[in-house]
Amino acid sequence: MKKVRKAVFPVGGLGTRFLPATKAMPKEMLPVVDKPLIQYAVDEAREAGIEQMIFVTGRGKSAIEDHFDISYELETTLSERGKSLDAIEGTRFAPGEIIYVRQQDPIGLGHAIWCARHIVGDEPFAIFLPDELMVGSPGCMKQMVEAYDKVGGNIVCGYEVPETETHKYGIITPGKVDGPLVEVKALVEKPVQGTAPSNLMIPGRYILQPEVMRILETQARGAGNEIQLTDAMAQMIGTQPFHAYAFGGQRFDCGDKAGFITANISLALERPDMAPTIREYLKGV
Ligand code: G1P
Repeated sequence: MKKVRKAVFPVGGLGTRFLPATKAMPKEMLPVVDKPLIQYAVDEAREAGIEQMIFVTGRGKSAIEDHFDISYELETTLSERGKSLDAIEGTRFAPGEIIYVRQQDPIGLGHAIWCARHIVGDEPFAIFLPDELMVGSPGCMKQMVEAYDKVGGNIVCGYEVPETETHKYGIITPGKVDGPLVEVKALVEKPVQGTAPSNLMIPGRYILQPEVMRILETQARGAGNEIQLTDAMAQMIGTQPFHAYAFGGQRFDCGDKAGFITANISLALERPDMAPTIREYLKGV
């Protein structure tokens, strides 16, 4: 069984839900406390043993490239002032460890992933949707990779949400349960409210076999008139093992304003340097 060495990060989206903040800044650069969303996802990937990060990007996203590049001015200035470089730890990569591909047309998540097909090649790969901030120890993808090493095939993360929210996500029809692993019997993207097969949604973490790229090649448009990754994955059920990994940690949908603020509060409360101030303020309001 081939190891999961590569990860695709679709970061081409316009971030319209966060305007005006995202007019000139990629939504993936929005910070939760003091780290941009994209870096949480990249840190999670590194922890899981991913060696190559593939960013599917678009116009106006160059701040992401700069973030993961060397900044001579900053490093020199910090060093001259006798300050530590710890704060930018995790933003540096060796040449070739990060690769950028452009998605010219914003016609869906499935299309974004397909844009990376030549770089992914013929091996299993991970996908991270950086809007979704997954907090756990070990991290969500590390747990998924450990499960993958046992069962192989395709694994999507699974997370329970209230029924009132299922219409916003990809939803799983669950089968047999074996610890955190749940057999996936079917998948549906953004089911009409009241018709979801369960409340187990896919929170933007996937380990997929490269065959999904062949399927995406001819995938028709689905929900929202977009080429949906969920529809392509659904076609692999029955031909390859397909599981959901029920993640027991925390999840924040940072593509949503309330989710983003909640993530900031929650992670700030975990930081000894600021927790007392934040807690005091929250008590007050
Ligand atoms: C995408 C996926 C969906 C998934 C969601 C997680 O939807 O298509 O299956 O559940 O991300 O946030 P989007 O948020 O791009 O509409």
